[in-house]
Amino acid sequence: MNEILVLYYSQGGAVREMAKLVARGVESVQGAQARIRTVPKVSANCEATEPDIPASGAPYAELKDLEECSGIALGSPTRFGNMAAPMKYFLDGTAGLWLKGSLIGKPAAVFTSTGSMHGGNETTLITMMLPLMHHGMVMVGLPYSEPELSSTSSGGTPYGASHIGGATDDRPITEDERRLCIKLGKRLAETALKLAA
Ligand SMILES: Cc1cc2nc3c(=O)[nH]c(=O)nc-3n(C[C@H](O)[C@H](O)[C@H](O)COP(=O)(O)O)c2cc1C
Repeated sequence: MNEILVLYYSQGGAVREMAKLVARGVESVQGAQARIRTVPKVSANCEATEPDIPASGAPYAELKDLEECSGIALGSPTRFGNMAAPMKYFLDGTAGLWLKGSLIGKPAAVFTSTGSMHGGNETTLITMMLPLMHHGMVMVGLPYSEPELSSTSSGGTPYGASHIGGATDDRPITEDERRLCIKLGKRLAETALKLAA
């Protein structure tokens, strides 16, 4: 069984919902299983303030989750056009894996939720790719053969799945956005199986 790590950070819940959809896409592929993990908030204090195990939702990721999985789907809300600090902080702790080359050749995909349509949806996806490419991962996006990329009037990009939550984050995930999340997970899992073979 090839496990795909669906690693996300979410404050308001939109990216968490997207992570579940990406995981559904992963598990639509025979021989692939999703491992869903999150990362804790970061604190301005120097001492750790989060418990080791979150009160609810997915467990916190450990470095071994990245090592053990055949591919990674990385999700974060947009924060000033970029990924949220907790995800960046977690990735900054992966230098040991980089030194060992643990992620070289594994496929990766990215997804995000953004407040406004032109507020950094695509820049977040692209900048999330950079540390993954430093790790030697192979990026998987969404091809225009997926009709939702052309029909969407909200999120959904060739660089990865996305959602536009609106100014108060009350817009539900649209049908096009939902399908593209699932298709991204499916494509990532199919690619992981091919590369593993
Ligand atoms: C500190 C901060 C910075 C943000 N920066 C942006 C931004 O640059 N562009 C944007 O459109 N939305 C921005 N947002 C809105 C979030 O991207 C949006 O609410 C997202 O859907 C939250 O996802 P979540 O529900 O998974 O936490 C920001 C929100 C916060 C709290």
